[in-house]
Amino acid sequence: METVVSGIRSTGNLHLGNYFGAVRNFLKMQRENKCYFFIADYHSLTTHPKPDDLHGNIKQVMAEYLACGIDPEVATVFIQSDVPEVTELYLLLNMNAYVGELERTTSFKEKIRRQPDNINAGLLTYPVLMAADIIVHKANKVPVGKDQEQHLEMTRRFARRFNMMYEVDYFPEPDAYNFGKQLIKIPGLDGTGKMGKSEGNGIFLADSPAEIRKKVMKAVTDAGPPAPGHKPSGPVKNLFTIMNVVSDRSTVKYFTEKYATCEIRYGEMKKQLAEDIIKVTDPIRSRINDILADNKYLARVVSQGAEKARESASKTVREVREIIGYRPF
Ligand code: TRP
Repeated sequence: METVVSGIRSTGNLHLGNYFGAVRNFLKMQRENKCYFFIADYHSLTTHPKPDDLHGNIKQVMAEYLACGIDPEVATVFIQSDVPEVTELYLLLNMNAYVGELERTTSFKEKIRRQPDNINAGLLTYPVLMAADIIVHKANKVPVGKDQEQHLEMTRRFARRFNMMYEVDYFPEPDAYNFGKQLIKIPGLDGTGKMGKSEGNGIFLADSPAEIRKKVMKAVTDAGPPAPGHKPSGPVKNLFTIMNVVSDRSTVKYFTEKYATCEIRYGEMKKQLAEDIIKVTDPIRSRINDILADNKYLARVVSQGAEKARESASKTVREVREIIGYRPF
């Protein structure tokens, strides 16, 4: 069995893009691999969440993970900050990570541009912590989106560097893992790029049916097809992309044909789309609420996950310390 590690930061609720782009892949992997799925709450500290919000954010994402079908009896589901071994490995890896290479990371350069008044050292060493998350379980596969590929390349480099430095064949080099063509990018409702947590263009798994209807009805479209057989504009194509994922074949076919013959009514299409999204999200939403109401269950899942994750992580850190040269007196 191969080992899989992946994490989601605890900033903001999961949306349709997270669900179809990431979580559904986790579900497919969880039975055939040894999986570690965690909530990257240390990583979320780079944005300085208020103490009163931190716990609630972690709890929400944990409930959402479970509501989507991640099975804590099969996969190890845990919270990053429950595994202090990760921070020890992070410290050790920091000694072999060079400031120059960290400063050249795309995500860091973007942060400098976007939040010039909060360029903390945690942002600079973000890829080192991520590498520690992954190699502490000696992972082979890391299911992540395209935006994380550079971080994963750095993970491989840190693993390789450690092996070279100490002349060992200890850490495997993990691969970014996606399902090729099946990797779906869900666009936002504002007619532009992909659905995001902070772009205000998303549908969240926790949204009520009324909220979803309202958001979909407000989605950007255009003035209608100018001539029969015309290709849909960007915003309209986005609606078709979402429809392709959530609706029946016959529904997609119906609206595709209506578009081609210029008979489409976007209002009708949006109404249908909203109902089909609700069919996907509503069972999840009701499970999210059930799980959030059952604190005992959540506490049990979290402590069981922490125990399993620590078992694997502490073995690695023990061995790494030995390789580095820490010896008992
Ligand atoms: N950096 C990832 C993101 O922003 C989250 C993350 C942290 C992660 N540690 C990880 C993903 C380890 C995969 C493996 O999406």
